[in-house]
Amino acid sequence: MAIVEFSGVTKRFRNTVALREASFTIPERSITAFLGPNGAGKTTSMKLIMGFLRPTKGNLTVFGEDPFRREEVRKRIGFMPEKPVYPMDLPVEDFLEHLARLRKVGKTDLNRLVRLVGLEKVLDTKIGELSRGYIQRVGIAQSLLGDPELLVLDEPTANLDPASRREILELLKLLHKELRVSMIISSHIIPELQEVSSYCVFIDKGMVLDYGYLGDLWKKYMTEAVFTIETRDINTLARILIEKPYIKLVKKVDKSLLEVAVEPEYYKSFEGLLSELGQIVTGFSFKTASLGDLYGKIVGSRS
Ligand SMILES: Nc1ncnc2c1ncn2[C@@H]1O[C@H](COP(=O)(O)OP(=O)(O)OP(=O)(O)O)[C@@H](O)[C@H]1O
Ligand SMILES: [Mg+2]
Repeated sequence: MAIVEFSGVTKRFRNTVALREASFTIPERSITAFLGPNGAGKTTSMKLIMGFLRPTKGNLTVFGEDPFRREEVRKRIGFMPEKPVYPMDLPVEDFLEHLARLRKVGKTDLNRLVRLVGLEKVLDTKIGELSRGYIQRVGIAQSLLGDPELLVLDEPTANLDPASRREILELLKLLHKELRVSMIISSHIIPELQEVSSYCVFIDKGMVLDYGYLGDLWKKYMTEAVFTIETRDINTLARILIEKPYIKLVKKVDKSLLEVAVEPEYYKSFEGLLSELGQIVTGFSFKTASLGDLYGKIVGSRS
């Protein structure tokens, strides 16, 4: 079932058209990536979903209802804005307790959330003294207060160093698994969302260029996914791989390296197979089938 549905949504700010006749759906329980360059319309789409903005033209629903008109819908969505403002002098605990009271969240639920998001150790620290990574955790915790069914995170990894980015993405994966909450995450750093998201909406210059499950988009845009595989037994591995109907090409690069082309919709099963073959497979990497390539095909070719 679709939890978000845009049909022909246009959003205009004075002379700027931020979103132009956008139509797309988002399925329940997915982690959806909103991908597009600066100014594409990602934040505008999120604000429309949150019911903060009203479309200039067209219709959109969240959980089947209009989020601009229906407060009950907004209560089911958690939001972390692009540039949140926090009371920097306040310890983490005071801030979260304050918000919990406002949203009628009990102490037990708050404690559970604090543990899950990894904030126990910094409860007494003033928000202004936290590292950026921990400030993002505070943002994620506040967006989860009240048990939302949909979490909308606007550039949650912006301005973080690579290690903190990884940590935040791992945390989001964990939260998705533990809380079974649907998520929408925006980013203009394309490759980083490859591992976390299963569904994508590609936006550029206010237009939704395409959307769907990654596997389906791969099938549509990429003719094959190419992997480079490192192995300690190249002959056995080549024999096993050649027999798989979804493998289109097996090529020896040198005595321990194989290049393998897989039908793109099977790339997940292929990754599964490689881990089963852990005895002889010592490493592997994507050569072409990455989110970046997909992005290049869908968005890059236009600009
Ligand atoms: N309140 C506003 N008033 C006027 N123009 C706006 C407003 N909000 C957004 N815009 C414009 O709409 C367009 C889309 O902006 P939006 O913030 O949705 O893009 P974005 O994809 O989130 O970009 P970024 O990656 O930079 O965050 C931009 O040209 C922006 O300048
Ligand atoms: Mg934005």
